[in-house]
Amino acid sequence: MIKEQEYKKRRERLLKKLSNDSLGVIFSAEPATRSNDTHHPYRQDSNFYYLCGFKEDSAALLFLKSKGKTKTLLFVHKKDKTIELWTGERLGVKEAKKIFLVDEVCAIDDLEKKLKGYIKGKKNIYFESSSKKSSVKKVSKLTKDIKNKHDIVPLVQKMRLIKSAAEIEMIKESINITAKAHHRAITMDKRGKYEYQLQAEIEHEFKVNAAYSDAYTSIVACGNNANTLHYIKNDKPLTDGELILIDAGCEHNYYASDITRTIPVNGSYSKAQKELYDLVLNTQLRIISMIKPLVKRSHLQETAEKLLTKGMVELGILKGDYKNLIKEKKHKKYYPHGIGHWMGIDVHDPAPYRDAKEREIALQKGMVLTIEPGLYIDKNDKSVPKKYRGIGIRIEDDILVTKDGCENLSHHIVKTVDEIESLSFKF
Ligand code: GLY
Ligand code: MN
Ligand code: MN
Repeated sequence: MIKEQEYKKRRERLLKKLSNDSLGVIFSAEPATRSNDTHHPYRQDSNFYYLCGFKEDSAALLFLKSKGKTKTLLFVHKKDKTIELWTGERLGVKEAKKIFLVDEVCAIDDLEKKLKGYIKGKKNIYFESSSKKSSVKKVSKLTKDIKNKHDIVPLVQKMRLIKSAAEIEMIKESINITAKAHHRAITMDKRGKYEYQLQAEIEHEFKVNAAYSDAYTSIVACGNNANTLHYIKNDKPLTDGELILIDAGCEHNYYASDITRTIPVNGSYSKAQKELYDLVLNTQLRIISMIKPLVKRSHLQETAEKLLTKGMVELGILKGDYKNLIKEKKHKKYYPHGIGHWMGIDVHDPAPYRDAKEREIALQKGMVLTIEPGLYIDKNDKSVPKKYRGIGIRIEDDILVTKDGCENLSHHIVKTVDEIESLSFKF
């Protein structure tokens, strides 16, 4: 768990970034309608959560800075018996005061009144300037006389780039649940089953381990479906002789995991499947071995493209000199996406990839990123040897950058052909 002291330190770091005579405000997420009068399960706004760990809606954090003095206020929903009857207990002002290490806890109903007082003398406002939250629009109107307007979101997102020891523990816990889910998928008897049934097995494992949600909609793509990168229909049968690309990760205590394994329906890879699989796997292992501080993601991307293209030439998928093929972007047809992304409270953590001067940010200790090369050969691609058509493979792990290298946080999820075949249900 993240301690209250850590949240307090984060808020102090944010306050340091604000200019003098500033007011900063950030809101909780608004409940999302599913249809008519039903709602999606509530999930807190990631930046708000990062700054205080409070999970309820109708909340706000207010930051004040004048003449070097700072003050932080948390606004929460008042206790309300009628609302609580329907949607559950709320913490309320009195209890929130006991937990959160802020200077003041107030009722959200008092925000407008308080804001009007605090606006006086402020030259800068930091708020979620591009957010669609109705609360943000209200604040924008109320504070329209403050001269300098800034977006508070990038300041928080930048802080999220480097993970603390406590955050790394949370990510590990999330990955450990996802590991169980992938292992369950591999061991399952898949005869006569559909993609959604495999999805159900995976998500069952999430839920019984207290990960109430997936971090993103699970992709369970059999055969040629794996060539649709964001395939989430998951409604086709699992077909003997084909591979299944499973890209699934849970969210546990607000931290994501993002893992892909590509496994055989019948428990054994064919020769052609193995050839493609090992090309992707060897590429992934090479890229992971390159990860250490000061390395740039673009270098990892280029190396992955080089290794995959070279390999595709050797397998007869592409013809010609691999350097020319890359120059002409011919490989993009089979490997069209990035090598990976930041991961944390969001599966695609919105921390920056470039600094204020647009220079690429190099890897540093404490960053967490995915490494996920893939190859996708469409079933109708006549330019490729027939044996490779209709196969899509991606292998994805979650990597922590350490002082002088990296740690594969998902190393314990089986990955080689031998490991997967040994664990598989075979028929
Ligand atoms: N699961 C989404 C991704 O791999 O980026
Ligand atoms: Mn990913
Ligand atoms: Mn993924």
